Amino acid sequence: MKLLVTGGLGFIGSNFIRLMLHEHDDIQILNIDDLRLGSNPENLLDLNENPRYTFCKGDIADARFIAGLIKDADAIVNFAAETHVDRSIARPDSFLHSNVKGVFNLLEALRHHNSSARFVQISTDEVYGDILSGSFTEESTLKPSSPYSASKAAGDVFVQAYARTYGLQAMVTRCTNNYGPYQFPEKLIPKTILRAKSGLRIPIYGTGQNVRDWIYVIDHCRAVQAVLLRGRKGEIYNISAAEEKTSRFCRGSAGP
Ligand SMILES: NC(=O)c1ccc[n+]([C@@H]2O[C@H](COP(=O)([O-])OP(=O)(O)OC[C@H]3O[C@@H](n4cnc5c(N)ncnc54)[C@H](O)[C@@H]3O)[C@@H](O)[C@H]2O)c1
Repeated sequence: MKLLVTGGLGFIGSNFIRLMLHEHDDIQILNIDDLRLGSNPENLLDLNENPRYTFCKGDIADARFIAGLIKDADAIVNFAAETHVDRSIARPDSFLHSNVKGVFNLLEALRHHNSSARFVQISTDEVYGDILSGSFTEESTLKPSSPYSASKAAGDVFVQAYARTYGLQAMVTRCTNNYGPYQFPEKLIPKTILRAKSGLRIPIYGTGQNVRDWIYVIDHCRAVQAVLLRGRKGEIYNISAAEEKTSRFCRGSAGP
């Protein structure tokens, strides 16, 4: 299989590339990443000599660039996105660019140049908004509450529309919060660990009552792999560890 992975120098994409190379001897991976915030070339530095892995710097919203590369792919998994919620509130423009125009551009390239390729759009449970109890299902109403989640929801509905209108083999996954190796140090768990190790105060968002369901990144990647290989056209797949908890459980003596 020739697999095109976008955003593969970020946290989840780099774990996914490692998993796929490890589990499939016959796979060739092309990783496209624009080296934006969240990316870290060192995440996959050791793969540079691997003949089954190629990296290419580029923007998924660049139509000509993507059209040239998408033709040869058997499948595409799109991790590329602007992901930092606070930054989306301060400066939403780049979120529209990567998370909406970028997805639209990938879909257009597939429609015109490779309509039989499988396409997995990596999305987030944040498109459903906040939850106080229970769990979201794939049928839950979309209630995004930040420019980040609004841009992800917009990308998702484009994917569903293209599967329905043009028959693309496209699917959406919506996962809960991830933790694990290669996570950007600004995110909650690495930031909390780093601050705790230095004896610094640990900030908690709001009152700490917000419910989150943390999943180990490799478990998420295995679920994406299952959707890539066996998912059904036009479907949405929620992914979680089914462990909903408030953030207060991690409030320790160093907390505010
Ligand atoms: N981290 C989580 O807890 C979580 C949970 C659920 C879903 N997701 C989704 O998973 C995906 C990956 O998340 P992550 O935490 O690995 O993010 P990340 O910020 O670590 O990585 C995103 C990568 O995308 C690249 N990128 C951004 N815009 C691009 C563009 N226009 N063209 C090419 N590359 C571009 C960045 O350079 C970066 O390497 C995102 O779509 C996110 O919405 C993340």
